[in-house]
Amino acid sequence: MQTFGLSEDWIQKLKDNTNIVSIVSKYVTLKQKGKTWWACCPFHFEKTPSFTVNEYDQYFKCFGCGVGGDVISFVRKMESCDFYDACKILAKEANMELPEVTNDINIAKQKKSMDKSYNILKETARHYYENLKSDNATPALEYLAKRKVQPETIKAFGLGYSLNRYEIVNYLKSKGYTYEEMKDAGVVDYKDGKYVDCYAGRLVFPIINVRGDVVGFSARVLEKTDFAKYKNTAATLIFDKSRCVFGINLVKKEKQTKGLDNIIIVEGQMDVVALWQCGVKNAVACMGTAMTPNHAREIKKLTDKVVLCFDGDGAGIKATQKGIDILVQAGLEVFVIGMPEGLDPDEYINKYGKDKYDELINGAKYWAEYLIRNNAKNLNKSNPNSVNNFVKNSMVVIRKLTTESEKFIYLNMIKEYTNISIDVLKKDYLAVKDESGEVKENQNEEKKEELLPNSYVKAINFVLASMLHNKEYAQNVQNINDLILDSDKKKLYSYILDCKSSGKPLILGNVYTYFDVEENTAISSIVDFEFTSDIDNADYFDSCLKSLQSFAIDRQKQEITKKLHNVTDANERRQLLEQMSNLIKTQNKGDK
Ligand code: UTP
Ligand code: MN
Repeated sequence: MQTFGLSEDWIQKLKDNTNIVSIVSKYVTLKQKGKTWWACCPFHFEKTPSFTVNEYDQYFKCFGCGVGGDVISFVRKMESCDFYDACKILAKEANMELPEVTNDINIAKQKKSMDKSYNILKETARHYYENLKSDNATPALEYLAKRKVQPETIKAFGLGYSLNRYEIVNYLKSKGYTYEEMKDAGVVDYKDGKYVDCYAGRLVFPIINVRGDVVGFSARVLEKTDFAKYKNTAATLIFDKSRCVFGINLVKKEKQTKGLDNIIIVEGQMDVVALWQCGVKNAVACMGTAMTPNHAREIKKLTDKVVLCFDGDGAGIKATQKGIDILVQAGLEVFVIGMPEGLDPDEYINKYGKDKYDELINGAKYWAEYLIRNNAKNLNKSNPNSVNNFVKNSMVVIRKLTTESEKFIYLNMIKEYTNISIDVLKKDYLAVKDESGEVKENQNEEKKEELLPNSYVKAINFVLASMLHNKEYAQNVQNINDLILDSDKKKLYSYILDCKSSGKPLILGNVYTYFDVEENTAISSIVDFEFTSDIDNADYFDSCLKSLQSFAIDRQKQEITKKLHNVTDANERRQLLEQMSNLIKTQNKGDK
């Protein structure tokens, strides 16, 4: 786990000074039942509580969606921030100073400069918003009225107006910021010997990340021009266009208050604004850039299902095809709408209303169907070459599908268009090469790791879980380090030993500081271990230990047997045989 240079001691002190119950209750209403506190889970939508907080172990767990962790991971999830920023939030609550991160001066410096930029961006966004109330805001207000944007919408998105080239510069100067700092934040440019507002005279859309921080702007000209309609913040330490998803902050809010079935992805921020105003609150935009894996990752944090709703023009269709690949690869379930009449979502919903737009969404096609039907638009059944091209292009789609049944469904679709039998199509698809020209090997084959027998895994998990959960029968055990074969489990064991030898209490929540428990099934199966009372746990514990020992000996025996095959030297052989006989003796003793 990356701790950004914060020392283990400091992190421990922070956790000692923090109570997870009081932190969580800042976000949700907790009710105490026995030792456990309960609430409706803030990370997924539910009506009956399955989210629990355990005060003694300083850890939370949702039995509905499975998330769990310590107080730091709770804040990370809640605020969608990194480890460092979560510690910063908690340190403030605990009245602790954040240590200077001394082991990497550059990181510390960069953090400081980023903090300053965040403040500048926030103040700038507020000021632009306030500008709309000034006497000089008429052009912007007229433009907003022309596009039917209502005050409530302006407020929700924090839209604003840059009055001229110098106003924001002077304002920020009066707040004590330097020109360089304004430039670093991406608000101000240095041009012809002067510092000027990057967005002068434009309607400004603040771009806000999932945490609610302003990270940059996209600003639209008010009149028709032949130069760029929108001007976006140039790359800064904070702003990276390939990562920003406009509207994601509002979608997150929607998810927390009402739940979320899917996220609609559109091209432009005006589309997001128009949809929101008409009651479609789950849309985001990638702001005209090509969809990137980073965008997909941001979106995947909030949902597993997306509906691509790009403009109905040629560029939109191309962007759709590229977007599908990236979103599917990110593991999202992707549906697609082809926008009719070359309209964009903003134009469509303003022309036909929300109900019609909802109909479009409900009719969204699974990406594979969309692509095949799109290919079929150029199909001329009486032209063999056209049929051939259609099949070829559609096979590219089939190859991207993961299950056999999916492949069958969409091969059938190709068959319907062409009357070529499934058998023949199947032969084709097995022979089709991917873009690199090579027939793909089975990609799903995971990296080969030593596959440990189930009985071993069960035993080691039970033993470690008993120790971690402080079971009485697991208090006095000889050192079992040699019996543990998984490096993460070894690490967990050494944490348990550390606590025991130093007399520190074993706190389950601390495990989350050292491991990414959710991502790490080796560890989570121990942390989340569910003890049953139908077996005598103490007896079972002993028998697990025995079978672990026996398993370790079996492995050593196997090693020796392997060596015996290759060793010819008589002396060496004798030594090996002696080792073998000792192992067998130990094993027999253990069995008694
Ligand atoms: P569009 O040209 O589709 O604009 O660009 P739009 O969203 O319909 O905008 P309106 O309705 O005319 O106001 C889609 C997105 O591409 C980015 C913007 O983020 C825009 O929302 N874009 C567009 C730019 O960054 N620069 C441009 O010059 C144009
Ligand atoms: Mn538009």
